[in-house]
Amino acid sequence: MRLFLDTANIEHIRHGVRLGVISGVTTNPTIVSREGKVDYQKLVQEICSIVPGPVSTEVLSQDVAGMITEAREIARWAENIVVKIPASLDGVEATSVLAKENIKVNFTLCFSLNQAILGAAAGATFVSPFVGRLDDVGEDGIRVVADIVEYLEYYQLPTQVIAASIRHPQHCLAAAKVGAHIATVPYNVLLQMIQHPLTDTGIKRFLDDWKRTQQT
Ligand code: G3P
Repeated sequence: MRLFLDTANIEHIRHGVRLGVISGVTTNPTIVSREGKVDYQKLVQEICSIVPGPVSTEVLSQDVAGMITEAREIARWAENIVVKIPASLDGVEATSVLAKENIKVNFTLCFSLNQAILGAAAGATFVSPFVGRLDDVGEDGIRVVADIVEYLEYYQLPTQVIAASIRHPQHCLAAAKVGAHIATVPYNVLLQMIQHPLTDTGIKRFLDDWKRTQQT
């Protein structure tokens, strides 16, 4: 499973890329708003220059014509741009048009297999089931990821699944177990993924034992 960072924070992105494990970034209006008042295009272009892979940026329009106009403009910002289009009926139509123009679409705010079926049929490059938000309303977010992965594999469709709205390491490993192609993780989850108390005590014990032999 590939890992993307779900953030617009430049320092966090630089760190993730430096670690060599982050191959893409996803943003949304909420995530960008956390960076304060910024020049949206400039920020996204800077992210695109840092990241060695797809950078998803969301349209704000809700109607077909607006989404298409916005997406065409955003697609010009950088080579590795992916346009996030919401999983609405207008979003399906916009995705169909954009996919035919070879503009990569991340079909986002996806909460069901039916929505993913339509996104894939429209030609979306990625579909993004929101795991945490499904769990929030008492549904099984990982089950939805698993269903979408199974469906795409069964019909050998090229659309890739980005497990999104990941809230903790357990979500991440569950997404990997059901075969999500990608998990987009917040920076704090990336940091949590490496942590294990036995690694910490193991490192300390090795060092203590080594120092002891050096003293004798
Ligand atoms: O990847 C989608 C994500 O940004 C939404 O996360 O935690 O707001 O549900 P959350």
